[in-house]
Amino acid sequence: MKRLDNISTLYCLPADGGQDAVGAIDDAALVWEEGTILYAGPAATLPREMNAAERLDAGGRCVIPGLIDCHTHLCFGGWRGDEFAMRLEGASYQDIQAAGGGITSTVRKTRESSMDALVDKAALALNEMARLGVTTVEAKSGYGLNIDDEIKQLEVYRELGQRQPVELVPTCLGAHLIPPEYREQRADYVELLCERLIPEVAERGLARFCDVFIEEGAFDLQEGRRILGAARTHGLGLKIHADQLSSGGGAGLAAELGAVSAEHLEYASDDDIAAMARAGTVAVSLPLASLYLREAYLPARKWIDAGVDVAVATDFNPGSAPSYHLPLALLLACINQGMSPAEVLRAATRIAARAVGLEASHGSLQAGYQADIAIIDAPDINHWLYHFRANACVATIKGGRIIHD
Ligand code: NIG
Ligand code: FE
Repeated sequence: MKRLDNISTLYCLPADGGQDAVGAIDDAALVWEEGTILYAGPAATLPREMNAAERLDAGGRCVIPGLIDCHTHLCFGGWRGDEFAMRLEGASYQDIQAAGGGITSTVRKTRESSMDALVDKAALALNEMARLGVTTVEAKSGYGLNIDDEIKQLEVYRELGQRQPVELVPTCLGAHLIPPEYREQRADYVELLCERLIPEVAERGLARFCDVFIEEGAFDLQEGRRILGAARTHGLGLKIHADQLSSGGGAGLAAELGAVSAEHLEYASDDDIAAMARAGTVAVSLPLASLYLREAYLPARKWIDAGVDVAVATDFNPGSAPSYHLPLALLLACINQGMSPAEVLRAATRIAARAVGLEASHGSLQAGYQADIAIIDAPDINHWLYHFRANACVATIKGGRIIHD
């Protein structure tokens, strides 16, 4: 049994309450055993039998649940710093994509990379993420775009799940783009996804979710409906990259299909926002992509007021969001999207857990939940997000084990 005390403020993240419900408790203690929390509450009311637990000292700092990055493209070959420079000179993300760069260039590099090289590269990022307080990461394929290379990416995630401590939630994004060799036979690629890739991935337990990029130049609504229908038949949860660069109806489709989440969403229509609220679909906001693409930010207040739960994630990928710094994404959501520190904390813990299907065990500090914990060098979360530093996280605990201090 382990006991963390001398906590200035403990953020419990209760199940009930609005976007800003963080359940702050001053002068708190936290006790866990074998990876599961036994007590999270005031130090003064700690049950006597827990006094004997091995003590760890939070140093008068605040303690939050381990952060959950619920949208990343973690595994990829190469980088695209050259495109960053082109975009700064005025080229658009879509221009670069149309000229054979963008996602297509990462597909080439990912296909050329060995599984070992991809594992080593992604492990470096995960290690850095853990240092920032991140304990669970959703990770998409989508740079293979054929059976073997999509499966290679998902096997990279399986391997990483065994060899390092950050927990991965794998998502199949074979529907990221039509690969160049299928450009004139779109229907055949959709068929390959539905009849071969999705069944194999599901049967081998290589992914928990299936995602589709619905956008001009990627997949249309009808294709998305078919691909996600196949995913559902095979028992995968559903996600959609929706309305990122134009209003394409992806958010409405997510609501219609009962997807767990829709992501990006900057151009979603008011009707689709209302449909997502009714369906209980989580909106995953990705402010680092807005920053790097110099695009609009999600108007989060409008979404929260409409009754949608908003998660915030990094979208870490080599093109539109080449950073895995989740606290920076949270800061951007505060400054550019009108969210409060409490709202963004819930967005990256409790609500992010819901976006990856783990809300019954992750994203909260309460008895029975997994002991995923970050100690932040600040008295409270207002101070944490306002006094932005390279890294304010002084210790990360995953499943009750210290993975960074
Ligand atoms: O979420 N929107 C599509 N996919 C990624 C970008 C991937 C890339 O540029 O390589 C995104 O932003
Ligand atoms: Fe993405």
